[in-house]
Amino acid sequence: MNRYKAIAMLDSGVGGLTVAQEIFRQLPAENVVYFGDTAHMPYGPRSPEQIRGFVYEISAFLQTQEVKALIIACNVATAAGLNYYAQKVDLPLLGVIEPAVRAALRHTKTGKIGVIGTAGTVKSGAYSRAFQRLAPEVELYSQACPLFVLIVENGLVNSPEARCVAQKYLQPLLAKGIDVLIMGCTHYPLLAGVVQEIVGPAVRLISSAEETARETKELLACRNLLRQENPAPQHRYFVSGPAKPFADLAATILRRKPNAYQVILPW
Ligand code: DGL
Repeated sequence: MNRYKAIAMLDSGVGGLTVAQEIFRQLPAENVVYFGDTAHMPYGPRSPEQIRGFVYEISAFLQTQEVKALIIACNVATAAGLNYYAQKVDLPLLGVIEPAVRAALRHTKTGKIGVIGTAGTVKSGAYSRAFQRLAPEVELYSQACPLFVLIVENGLVNSPEARCVAQKYLQPLLAKGIDVLIMGCTHYPLLAGVVQEIVGPAVRLISSAEETARETKELLACRNLLRQENPAPQHRYFVSGPAKPFADLAATILRRKPNAYQVILPW
């Protein structure tokens, strides 16, 4: 185990890139290996058992890539079994749910917080449990937004359809008087423009990216694994589906063309 190894990250598709971008910003000397499980996207409607199986296979692959830590840059995969992965994966491990909860708690004044996520994340109750543990007095209102991931993965972020769907999903939360809204899916920050327009400036949007990157930095520093200098940081991207559509969409998010490679895993 040494500090010259890369940070591994995984998501069902491009959503985890919102966390990756923040890792690039806060930990600029780190090499990163990213895995998008596009062959199985969306994860949201799948069972926790199935998602755990995918994550297990992906992490086995990532561990062949000289990595020193693993970020589950996906809420529904975090909800499906962070403790399970911790028993199976021999790497320092981070999810995205608790970082988002801590960030939300820093910003709420009314204690009324909304969370939007995939059907799987909302059904798992993972956010409710995290708030119960960290701030049981919070009033939490959840809303599943199953079409958001498909809108992002199909490059429809700025479409009239996105606005119309967002309006329908967000209206019930607004009626509760929330002052903070957690984007409880790593794909959703890519829709932040339309979401913010609908909820208005009085509602603070929270993405787990910033806090997850900060906690990653702390975790690596405390294990003496933080890399301080790197003249040419490498970012490598692997996908379980075809590489080109992922690379094209990722290029619009990262504003540079990533090198993406398809990996066929045994599932
Ligand atoms: N980006 C993932 C998350 O944070 C989920 C996307 C999906 O449903 O595949 O939950």
